[in-house]
Amino acid sequence: MDGELLKAYRRKRDLSQEAFADMLNQKLGRSYDKAKVSRWENGKEAVPEPVAIFMRRGTRTRARIIATANQKGGQTKSSTALNLAHAFAMMGKRVLLVDADPQASVSLAAGVDLEACMAAGKVLGAVLEEKLTLREIIVQANGIDVVPSDITLAEFEVAALSKPGPEKRLARALSDVRQDYDEIIIDTPPHLGVLTRNALVAATDVLIPVVPVPLDVPGVPLLLRTIEQIRIYENPELNILGILPNRFEAKMLVQQATLQQLLSTYAGTIRVFEPIRKTTAMDQAIYNGVIAVRALPKDSPAVQGYLRLAEEIGHEA
Ligand SMILES: Nc1ncnc2c1ncn2[C@@H]1O[C@H](COP(=O)(O)OP(=O)(O)OP(=O)(O)O)[C@@H](O)[C@H]1O
Ligand SMILES: [Mg+2]
Repeated sequence: MDGELLKAYRRKRDLSQEAFADMLNQKLGRSYDKAKVSRWENGKEAVPEPVAIFMRRGTRTRARIIATANQKGGQTKSSTALNLAHAFAMMGKRVLLVDADPQASVSLAAGVDLEACMAAGKVLGAVLEEKLTLREIIVQANGIDVVPSDITLAEFEVAALSKPGPEKRLARALSDVRQDYDEIIIDTPPHLGVLTRNALVAATDVLIPVVPVPLDVPGVPLLLRTIEQIRIYENPELNILGILPNRFEAKMLVQQATLQQLLSTYAGTIRVFEPIRKTTAMDQAIYNGVIAVRALPKDSPAVQGYLRLAEEIGHEA
């Protein structure tokens, strides 16, 4: 975390440097003062890790909001959002899965009756257009709550920029329901347009799934630059949960090498999770209309991967 973000965090809360130091001292048992805060803010001293962690986590009584994002197509954003949502639900968490992609893959894979939602106009596009509230469109599917989307969401993408607050609409809509859940997961489309930006403005955390092949990994820095911009201008507390290598084939040397490259590039800066193995049954699960983490055998490598991920990050919320 750098000083500029710390300053944005403090100003957003209307705290003087002195009041901010007092708050940290109270919460963290330290003895920081105004001068120290000033040195962090102007970059003369690094922000200590406990302070950075405290700011990212805050004192959360409302859901953590995780966006799965990667502007490249087919990187397992939707599969990760769906299976992580269900893995959290299997841990007893209250979960909301939000489909922010006009392709509606996650709505369909989640088991939503999309035709009925579309016929009633109860889709995310209607919320972003301020015709309905988020609560009015939430449906239950396979034991979790889902906010469905459909192709009309693409119309919002086009119309959004001529409306006020085009990138803040999802954050605003979610603020009404955030206290009802422990985890909210948002699936995003494969580009860095207004919908992905809405997700990143609304999120507390971003998870970056990536297939570890040479042509896919180079897209990660572009996403990281976008995240940095969102942090500076819109959402200073946005935390990068980590990079999730997915559809990993251990037998393929090129994937092994790409994974090593990811690990060395982001060592000490961004957590790279243990990869989730490629399992052909993942596609079969979608075809059969079931949720992989619930329906596939527990010893399936991909299921194990998702359950392990949920366990690891589930305790951090
Ligand atoms: N662990 C896995 N093993 C094998 N196949 C997988 C695994 N995870 C996901 N897949 C498959 O990979 C394909 C792409 O996944 P998914 O649709 O989740 O990616 P995406 O990033 O959401 O794509 P898009 O950019 O189009 O939204 C799908 O066919 C999915 O079923
Ligand atoms: Mg997708």
